Amino acid sequence: MKNIDSIDLKNKKVVIRLDYNVPMDNNVISDNSKIVKTIPTLKYLLDNNCRICILSHLGRIKSEEDKEKNTLKYVAQELANLLEVPVKFVDECYGDEVKKIVDEALNGEVLLLENTRYMDYPEKLESNNDLDLAKYWASLGEVYINDAFGTLHRAHASTAGIAKFLPHAVGFLVAKELSNLNILIKDTPHPFTVFMGGAKVDDKLKIIKTLLPKCDYLLLGGGIANSFLKARGANVGESLATNDEEILKELKDLMVKYKEKIVLPVDFTMDDGAIYDLGLKTIDLYQKYINESNIIFVNGTCGKFEDERFTEGTKELLRVLKESGKDVYIGGGDTASSVKKFGYEDAFKFISSGGGATLEYIADGKLEALEWLDK
Ligand code: 3PG
Repeated sequence: MKNIDSIDLKNKKVVIRLDYNVPMDNNVISDNSKIVKTIPTLKYLLDNNCRICILSHLGRIKSEEDKEKNTLKYVAQELANLLEVPVKFVDECYGDEVKKIVDEALNGEVLLLENTRYMDYPEKLESNNDLDLAKYWASLGEVYINDAFGTLHRAHASTAGIAKFLPHAVGFLVAKELSNLNILIKDTPHPFTVFMGGAKVDDKLKIIKTLLPKCDYLLLGGGIANSFLKARGANVGESLATNDEEILKELKDLMVKYKEKIVLPVDFTMDDGAIYDLGLKTIDLYQKYINESNIIFVNGTCGKFEDERFTEGTKELLRVLKESGKDVYIGGGDTASSVKKFGYEDAFKFISSGGGATLEYIADGKLEALEWLDK
């Protein structure tokens, strides 16, 4: 795998894949962090007088209606503001007309094509890594750069297949993510503590199982903690928790096998008989483990922090993490949003821009699209 600064980019026509899958609320970008993090690579390309053709996905496209809801046109405006140069939005991502527009653009110009997942309906081409589509996108430039860390766990036409047809390299964001996260994969200093929160245990069971043999303590929050409590026989009422009997059995077995490592919450903020946040006694308990640790990985929040009534647990945990002065690594979209919302953006060693990609990289030490970029 090559890094962007090890290849000749002077005056080149570049196709770049970025991860602009940003949270949107009524056509307003509610967190622009993913866009902000791509600016250094784009500025570097502009400094090299490149023509820049950007590819990105947004959401999932399974119908014609999904297309309208997931247009990248608002991202183009935000990017132009942040980059302080005009960004030409091309309202399609495929076809002769798109190719003509890109071909006619000059060096120093920035174009953002419409959502690459428009090519997932009616036929799933982008997500199935269709090589004809990848070849078409490759025809829009001379060099391919991938700086979409958050999508590297997906081998799609715009993230993987395209690398078959062009000289390629990874951008500054991908390089930074990989080098920062490596400490959580190999030679991790101990005691190593993991806080795992968030809604669904089903999505995170794989990473939990990979991290348990490696970590010293696993502190739990959110729907994941509720699921463990339920597996232990607690009555969690209407709280968010898995109903899958097989998963509950697996959680029970994990609690036997790793009883010294798994730490469950002891108090909660409830509403209508359901758990929505961790209580302060739990945060006190978790603080003891945090203060004993050398390094901490945080994925997920303590509860439903988007609701003003249930912010306390997440806020307190972030405060305790900051005050510990330990090396704290944050991963996951919601977790990063909570850090930003409560003003802890500069408090930690590293905040990853990835969600699923961060977890897969830490669990497997590899990412599917990266394998294509290695070739
Ligand atoms: C993310 O937001 O985690 C990435 O953009 C990947 O999105 P996806 O899960 O829709 O592939």
